Amino acid sequence: MLNNIWEKIDSEEDLTKEELCCLLSLEDPEQLELLYQKADKIRKKYVGDEVHLRGLIEFSNYCRNNCHYCGIRRDNKKIKRYRMEIDEILNTAILASHMGYKTVVLQSGEDMYYTTDKLVELIKLIKNNADVAITLSIGERSYDDYVRFFEAGADRYLMRFETSNPELYAKLHPDSSFENRMNILKWLKQIGYQTGSGIMIGLPGQSIEDLAQDILKFKELDLDMIGVGPYICHQDTPLAGNPNGTVEMTLKVIALTRIVTKNTHIPATTALATLRPADGREKALQAGANVIMPNVSPVKYREFYELYPNKICIRENAKQCNSCIKRRIFSIGRTISKGYGHSLKKKMDNAIAL
Ligand code: SAM
Ligand code: FES
Repeated sequence: MLNNIWEKIDSEEDLTKEELCCLLSLEDPEQLELLYQKADKIRKKYVGDEVHLRGLIEFSNYCRNNCHYCGIRRDNKKIKRYRMEIDEILNTAILASHMGYKTVVLQSGEDMYYTTDKLVELIKLIKNNADVAITLSIGERSYDDYVRFFEAGADRYLMRFETSNPELYAKLHPDSSFENRMNILKWLKQIGYQTGSGIMIGLPGQSIEDLAQDILKFKELDLDMIGVGPYICHQDTPLAGNPNGTVEMTLKVIALTRIVTKNTHIPATTALATLRPADGREKALQAGANVIMPNVSPVKYREFYELYPNKICIRENAKQCNSCIKRRIFSIGRTISKGYGHSLKKKMDNAIAL
């Protein structure tokens, strides 16, 4: 069966769920190497050697939700909460653009302190003062909010569906439904955002079949960006004591995501680098990934955006992360994109008339 699957990958035929399960079950190092090589070849053909850098600003760790895996969940009273004010976020975005980043990612818990008007003002200020694309990653809001952010100049939106298994989704998310997440992803695309989603690998109760289904879901949703990172257990959550996801399974899913979705943007995630600081990002970039999101948040806040323990880059500043990441990219013979790194899929003019 495996020979047949390798041939299907080489001729770029669609893989079935069973075939994806077979590949996700591989353990032999030589076969895994072959899988990563095939993903790397498809990455090179469809998205080239350039790595896109997105400056990540974690602007608030307040969250109204209680996701069972997440360290900044509402009920975690042990964490010190912080919020950056609008000028501070703007100045951080300007700093990111001066460092050469052509995208800033604004990420936070679901924090309603930032009203729609405040966020609209922030998006306009960034667009008027820095030559960057803006990605939002701020969770669930109303349709009208998403339209207003888009009109103000936001280009992209990230909203992971975390798992495509609705029962597992329901167990992990007391405040939101799988159906609602899927609806929001549809809205975002319809409004005209370059839309990203993604999953965690190794969630308690997640099966190989679930992961195969997740990969098929990526294709069905026709996403522009797909983030795949390991679940890392946080001791101050209801999932305390569970094992972390593994580096190997994360790399397999990244490789298969590239093989199945071809021209999407796929980051080498911070969570993967946390489990394997020495070369996790390099491994991901050599197994299908083509994006890195260096942290540009002010150092004084970094330790508090603790989604999971031992997160990397807590003490480094934006400049140190910048040179660290460049060195890693060059060490594997890749180059850094000077462009915005927009979606390679959608025409930029197909947003609905607003
Ligand atoms: N609040 C926004 C949302 O829910 O989309 C954005 C911020 S949320 C903290 C960003 C992502 O962090 C989630 O989509 C989830 O996949 C990831 N995350 C949270 N807790 C994690 C953990 N314990 N291990 C790995 N990733 C985690
Ligand atoms: Fe922050 Fe390497 S990316 S120190």
